[in-house]
Amino acid sequence: MCGIVGYIGYREAWPIVLKGLKRLEYRGYDSAGIALMNNGGDHIYKKAGKVAVLEEFAETQDKSGSIGMGHTRWATHGVPSDRNSHPHTSNNDKLSIIHNGIIENYATLKEELISRGHEFKSDTDTEVLIHLIEEIQKIEKIDLLEAVRLALHEVNGAYAIVIMDKDNPDRLIAARKGSPMVIGVGQGEYFIASDATPIIEYTKNVIYLKDGEIALITREDLLIKHLDNVVQTPLIQELELKLEMLEKGGFDHFMLKEIYEQPRSIKDCMRGRIYPEEGKVQLGGIKEFAEKLKNIDRIIIVACGTSWHAGLVGEYLIEEYARIPVEVEYASEFRYRNPIITEKDVVIAISQSGETADTMAAIEMAKERGATIFGICNVAGASIPRLTHAGVYTHAGPEIGVASTKAFTAQVTVLTLMAFYMAQQKGTITTSKLIELLTELDHIPEKIQVALESNDLVKEVAEKIKDSTNCLFLGRGSGFPVALEGALKLKEISYIHAEGYPAAEMKHGPIALIDEEMPVVFIATQNSSYEKVISNIQEVKARKGKVIAIVTQGDTEVKKMADYCIEIPDAKEAFLPLLATIPLQLLSYHIAVMRGCNVDQPRNLAKSVTVE
Ligand code: G6P
Repeated sequence: MCGIVGYIGYREAWPIVLKGLKRLEYRGYDSAGIALMNNGGDHIYKKAGKVAVLEEFAETQDKSGSIGMGHTRWATHGVPSDRNSHPHTSNNDKLSIIHNGIIENYATLKEELISRGHEFKSDTDTEVLIHLIEEIQKIEKIDLLEAVRLALHEVNGAYAIVIMDKDNPDRLIAARKGSPMVIGVGQGEYFIASDATPIIEYTKNVIYLKDGEIALITREDLLIKHLDNVVQTPLIQELELKLEMLEKGGFDHFMLKEIYEQPRSIKDCMRGRIYPEEGKVQLGGIKEFAEKLKNIDRIIIVACGTSWHAGLVGEYLIEEYARIPVEVEYASEFRYRNPIITEKDVVIAISQSGETADTMAAIEMAKERGATIFGICNVAGASIPRLTHAGVYTHAGPEIGVASTKAFTAQVTVLTLMAFYMAQQKGTITTSKLIELLTELDHIPEKIQVALESNDLVKEVAEKIKDSTNCLFLGRGSGFPVALEGALKLKEISYIHAEGYPAAEMKHGPIALIDEEMPVVFIATQNSSYEKVISNIQEVKARKGKVIAIVTQGDTEVKKMADYCIEIPDAKEAFLPLLATIPLQLLSYHIAVMRGCNVDQPRNLAKSVTVE
């Protein structure tokens, strides 16, 4: 997490860096800071709070300078405060640094530096790194680039850093390991950022700095070395991102825009991959493993947060159609176990950002043990797609709201395609069945459009339950992960305590919580568990719970019992998670807005979790 931006060129740096920070605020937003270099020296402004607080604070300050760097923070070491905000400076105040990541051995290094007379002004791990660089430069009498290179050999952990030097005011030094960094290449100017969003309006030419690379950047030139001191030839790539993808486009929040984008994002996700008339799925990204898929023993899905929920839907689909056993694991747990993994296992890592530290570590471990790794990612060129053997992009477009919506449904779509693809390879499905399924899948975007039409009704329901302190989400079969995702959405953005449960498990605990104050949201669509869910609804009604049910269009049974029914179009069971998720996203959105919460940037969360 944390977002970093840097600029060196001929324009004023402040507006570029400030705007860049606003674009990166999804990565963390508890404090922000900017350093500028001009002829008169450097200026550093930093404040706890959002980037807007920094902007207001700096209104009357000197903001001149054509070199600058900025940071928006998600606190790890040290509470969010002015003094813990980045940039941090060296002991002699000549060097300053911004950093995304964690320096794990900072405590030992700090102790040693203190014994050498260094005084620290913050509680952060980052400040230790800049002091270490200064100390190495002083002892070894070497230039800054070399000092940074040597210092990075001494630190453990993850970093993307940018460094400014008062003694050499016409250069920036940047480096990365484990945290992302993109360099935009302009004419007589360079841009640095955690992702391409702050860069897109100035240049389409970018270099993705690789792990273990360090760059010396002046206005005219760029030198990239590996940490082992070998000079690298940079690969300039063209960005596909468009500016309008990063704007709200008339919606009040990014989250709402992203919810409404789903008919389009799902269509984009399927484009060129399904051939309904022939009953065929093509996934170019994993094509070279088509043969291998015929003989695999097991699939392990690893992911975090919402992506883990998508994995649970994938488990139902892959087991149902491809008849391959699937395990779904939290990456953060899996990486610290000693799991049994063989060369006949395929690990599917799911990640919207492609940067989640735990998911990356899980991939590395499974790779070492010989598994084949597939990725399902949204951000092209991110770290996870580079770590995997093969993969399928979700193509949902940039997701800016911290709570994931369109990325989730795109992940579920890719998993649906993968399940069908594997079934096709293994011969566990007939062509006529695939024709039937793919024909319906092809029309899911239109059905999602219909599901979105429930918005006004969902808003009414939101009004009725917005003041609840707890909420239960229940579903069975593939409705269970949908319930989990519905509960996560609600707690993330509205701060109402919410739990997702398999409906039948309710009687083993959560039923004790039910009273007339408790809203219980049921996924009660007409599928194989419909009758069973109806019994669970009755159990809740018998205890005076308030029932909100997501039902299939035309349902009459549930309507007799539920307090509120929200309809979604009828579909085969395989596609119900895609449709049933829509009203739940809208429900949490409206409740959060009604409660006055910051929907796009909920407290304490970050979109890209690059720390363990
Ligand atoms: C954070 C985000 C979630 C996301 C999770 C996993 O917690 O707030 O929305 O589901 O990380 O992120 P990933 O990028 O790996 O899907």
